[in-house]
Amino acid sequence: MGLVSTSEIEAFEHLLEEALRTGQAEDLDVIGYGEVTIGVKLATPRGDFACKRLVPFSERDAADRYADLIASYVEQLEACGIDVVETETPILKRPDGYVLYCVQPLLPSGSLGPDFLKSKTASEAAPHVRRIFEHIQASVTPSLAPDGQLSNWAFEGDRVRYLDVGTPFLRDEHGNEVLDFTTQTRALPAPVRVIVNRFLSQLVIDNYFSIRGQALDFLGNLIKEGLGDIFPPLVPVANEVFGLTPEITEKEVRAHYKSDAQLWALTQAARRADRWFYRRILRKPYPYLLPPRIDRYG
Ligand SMILES: Nc1ncnc2c1ncn2[C@@H]1O[C@H](COP(=O)(O)OP(=O)(O)OP(=O)(O)O)[C@@H](O)[C@H]1O
Ligand SMILES: [Mg+2]
Repeated sequence: MGLVSTSEIEAFEHLLEEALRTGQAEDLDVIGYGEVTIGVKLATPRGDFACKRLVPFSERDAADRYADLIASYVEQLEACGIDVVETETPILKRPDGYVLYCVQPLLPSGSLGPDFLKSKTASEAAPHVRRIFEHIQASVTPSLAPDGQLSNWAFEGDRVRYLDVGTPFLRDEHGNEVLDFTTQTRALPAPVRVIVNRFLSQLVIDNYFSIRGQALDFLGNLIKEGLGDIFPPLVPVANEVFGLTPEITEKEVRAHYKSDAQLWALTQAARRADRWFYRRILRKPYPYLLPPRIDRYG
């Protein structure tokens, strides 16, 4: 039994394309701006869904393979005890290729990690964060990694749920990427993309497959989420659950965050320039949604 019917998702894709064509994203119920993913709410008579549109593919085969990878990723995370939000991956044919969606039931916004912790003190937040850390600790291996950031987890009653499966962090037994991450950088303008693919992606991806990297990412990301006040007391929790030696420090987290924020700002600036080029020079719609300009703290 599917979450969303083919006609529903097709109608939805038309709306989204229209919004991209006209640049009128205000009409969409955007739920999240990923680096490349467009996440929008879809209301149906059977409830609301999160529809996350991944980067388009030119070949059907590639889209199929990507959907299989997501299925395998979900299975492997679940085998580690992670409660992954039910996910469907419909593929739609478009005039110029194929688009793949991740469709999930829409979780109430108050349940999403950043919102859930927003009004909590560090000591109230600590047991919840500890549970996320335990899941990260139980799942990160040389061949598997969740994207452990707070925004990818939700708290529903007693359950801690994981929702970000659109970028499967998987490696084979030789340590090679299963996913061709260069497909993930298609949203970047060509000159930036070459640099990112050649020099940066390895460093960024390595970070996910390391417990220390996950810890630094999670804590640094709290600053971005406007939760900078509660992060210092959580550093010892991370050191304890992850058994880190040498222990991580507040200073190390801040430095990690700073370099991450700079990289992010750089890619966003490049994409804005690219969007300008599409619209003004090529007179074509820019095929992605960019996050609003100011959404980082710290
Ligand atoms: N099922 C859902 N219910 C409610 N909100 C969701 C759901 N899925 C995603 N979101 C919101 O959208 C945000 C982005 O979604 P997700 O983490 O899956 O992709 P992403 O991080 O944008 O992907 P990437 O960066 O890998 O392209 C989430 O952090 C969350 O705020
Ligand atoms: Mg995410």
